[in-house]
Amino acid sequence: MSIKKIAITTGGGDAPGLNGVIRAVTLAACRRGWECVGIRHGFDGILHADEFEDGGTIALTPSRVRGIGHLGGTILGTTNRGNPFSYRVALPDGTFEIQNISDRLLKGFQDLEIDALVAIGGDGTMEIACQVAELGITVVGVPKTIDNDLDGTIATFGFDTAVSFATEAIDRLHTTGASHNRVMIVEVMGRHAGWIALEAGLAGSADVILIPEIPFDLAKVAEKVNQRNATNRNFSIISVAEGALPIGGEASYRTTGGIANLGGLGEWVAENLRPLVPNQIRTVVLGHLLRGGSPSSRDRLLALRFGTAAVRALEAGKKGVMVGLNPPEIHYVPLEEATRKMKLVPVDCDMIQTAEDLGTCMGR
Ligand code: F6P
Repeated sequence: MSIKKIAITTGGGDAPGLNGVIRAVTLAACRRGWECVGIRHGFDGILHADEFEDGGTIALTPSRVRGIGHLGGTILGTTNRGNPFSYRVALPDGTFEIQNISDRLLKGFQDLEIDALVAIGGDGTMEIACQVAELGITVVGVPKTIDNDLDGTIATFGFDTAVSFATEAIDRLHTTGASHNRVMIVEVMGRHAGWIALEAGLAGSADVILIPEIPFDLAKVAEKVNQRNATNRNFSIISVAEGALPIGGEASYRTTGGIANLGGLGEWVAENLRPLVPNQIRTVVLGHLLRGGSPSSRDRLLALRFGTAAVRALEAGKKGVMVGLNPPEIHYVPLEEATRKMKLVPVDCDMIQTAEDLGTCMGR
């Protein structure tokens, strides 16, 4: 099939580098003489086109994407509640029902004469992309997430920026923690994977790193803090992944607007560590700060490489694949393969061995 027009969507939580991919796809597509449109807010720009002043899609031209590569967020907008195969539809009586409204998506693609889709997102978006492909739409996925938990790629863009920011935060906590002889706990995002807490914790010389892959024993954490106190290192830094959990316990969730999200473990650790150590304890939750701001140079490069590789894939007639990094090359993996399992930190990996050889407590 010869391509004349492609669409781009950004889905799920935003991550630094999304605009870089939009720019890269647009420039590479326009060089091939293809038309390019961006769908607003995941697929909502098509599913609810009438609700958008601009009709729900944006014409992406080289001049429209000029100067956006270094900007965080996404110029298209995004949503993590816009799955067309299980959409929350408001009923006339004010209640909601989950419905499959993918026929609306297919019709929108036909009306707009879109030949192919570049879907940029994390595991949720890749799963939706898989189903969109089953509707007969040509799809190529581009992996994004600060969590780095997508399989089929060594790295996702957004992760490096998040780790750099968390590392800088830990650096800053060292000086204030040391001045007050405190235990400083920093809670970072990452869902059920500990990549951010581990890499930032190592790079920032945290004394304790708690990740979901290794359920922790709080007594070991207290032992580490007290050992440091005994050797005149009267402060400690603890890097906590939001999805980490105590041995035999559960992950911590917070419910906002009826939706439960991981969060609150930092406070839990503080509360339960207080009786076990003499230090004052303070908790900092980095949360969405990890997703904001300019992408790092590594993430900008990944975004450009992924975006142009997605266009080359479409040109070569590939479909139903996700672009991935397999150093030093970019490769393509079937979407089903990329979404089969979460990429977790292997508990025997060298980074964990490194941490433990340095004397860092991994909670065990
Ligand atoms: O997947 C990215 C992520 O930032 C996770 O690390 C975090 O648990 C989640 O999204 C937060 O989601 P929301 O944007 O709904 O607050």
